[in-house]
Amino acid sequence: MASNANTDDVVDEEILITSGRYDSYPADSNFSENIAYRPFQVQPAIMIPDHFTHMPLVRDRLITDTSEMQDETAETCLPSIFVQDPANSDPPVNEFGVPHLDRKRHARFLHKSLEPLPGTFVGYDPSRPWFLFWCLNGLSLLGEDVSMYRERLIDTARSMQNASGGFGGGHGQSSHLATTYAVVMGLTIVGGEACYEAIDRRSLWKWLCSLKQPDGGFQMSVGGEEDVRGAYCAAVIISILDLPLDLSPDSPAWTSDKPTLYTGLANYVQRCQTYEGGISAQPGSEAHGGYAFCALGCLSILDSPDRSIPRYLNVPRLVSWLASRQYAPEGGFSGRTNKLVDGCYSHWVGDCWPLVEACLQRSSGGVPTPSQSLFSREGLIRYILCCCQDQTKRGGLRDKPGRMSDPYHTCYVLSGLSSAQHKWELVDKPVEAIEGVASTAAVEINYAESVWKASPFPFADEEGVQVFDEEDRVATVHPIYTMSADRVNQIQTYFRAKVGF
Ligand code: FPP
Ligand code: ZN
Repeated sequence: MASNANTDDVVDEEILITSGRYDSYPADSNFSENIAYRPFQVQPAIMIPDHFTHMPLVRDRLITDTSEMQDETAETCLPSIFVQDPANSDPPVNEFGVPHLDRKRHARFLHKSLEPLPGTFVGYDPSRPWFLFWCLNGLSLLGEDVSMYRERLIDTARSMQNASGGFGGGHGQSSHLATTYAVVMGLTIVGGEACYEAIDRRSLWKWLCSLKQPDGGFQMSVGGEEDVRGAYCAAVIISILDLPLDLSPDSPAWTSDKPTLYTGLANYVQRCQTYEGGISAQPGSEAHGGYAFCALGCLSILDSPDRSIPRYLNVPRLVSWLASRQYAPEGGFSGRTNKLVDGCYSHWVGDCWPLVEACLQRSSGGVPTPSQSLFSREGLIRYILCCCQDQTKRGGLRDKPGRMSDPYHTCYVLSGLSSAQHKWELVDKPVEAIEGVASTAAVEINYAESVWKASPFPFADEEGVQVFDEEDRVATVHPIYTMSADRVNQIQTYFRAKVGF
């Protein structure tokens, strides 16, 4: 900073307090000093923290398309978050100004999305495995029984499986790690031996070996792009299906040192952390919430997050970047710097928090152990229930008000809601309960000494207001695998007991 700079040059933000409840910024956004300085009077009938009742008080002076879109988004969300006339609100709201989760409509939307779709969806054909996963997971989160889909799912999954290993987006489509991940997730969620045995694990293992790269990462398809999604999808598939870690000698990553499928993977993830502290798709690109979750999930499979996260990532920077993703008054998360809130980041960013909190709870990683949640659970819950529900007959959850609901957002918004409504902790497992693990690199890569445990929010030892009604609590999802922890345990137990493929 130049030593002769005057105050106007160095201060790039202004504090503005508007005079109305959730007034827009004035048309003259240079914020003349005449703007009234008047704190909000929150209606006593509605309990809502002040920062969710008005436009942000701190604002960058530079007006750009980005800042205008941000203002428009906050202005669009505000009337749903801060309901002016709660007694006559449609949908009705509780004493915290929060509507119910429209469970039945959202479930109907997901069931319908599992039926044949109209011709306009033809472009989504290669994403059919994703539709299966999003719908089945969303339904499970809503407490629906999905076992009636078992046979249809198995038939569909078989038609997508290639003899050379992995699953494509449909019959005759080449295998891809993202679609393989989605099929494996779907089969695991529905569960049962028939689902598990539909997976050709031997050819899948061989195919994963062909995707493993000398720098430690995974390509998404043979000869395709290599990125941190590959690191996460591969680690999920390997660990859920208890695949051998040995690398086949025809893998591009094979050397005489006998590397494994996990060799160098954490180092690859490490290279994806950016100067901002978030994680990018590949080394050298822009940090994004989707990739942050993949990175933390992968590291938390490779080893206990209290060891792997501080070992490979700069935790203070990561926490700072993650914390910057939550906005007020919206309460939701954005995926990257200078972008807008979007319901799906309730999962991609929101589900980074349990992993980071587990890391900080057991080892400080350079950041003081927090006594409170590191994000506003209340803000996220308000954004989800007030702004992300399609309250029309259609149902489903969405990015933000004005957008259409879809199975992707329905699954990930519900998953984020689950994380906001529960706390996950890594707790010590009693020594006698520690099982032997069959994998060759077990000692190095598993953390059988501890288990994940969920407790409902608000917690006894922490301040926090439950702004949602108990009937609106959704099921828990495993913090790494984003599906029921029971289903993860069942499939892992099944394959660990199996000798050979
Ligand atoms: C930006 O979209 C989205 C990305 C750059 C990719 C997000 C990554 C994931 C969702 C992770 C995928 C994970 C697996 C397991 C395959 P955008 O530019 O439309 O949105 P934005 O404006 O919010 O950044
Ligand atoms: Zn989204």
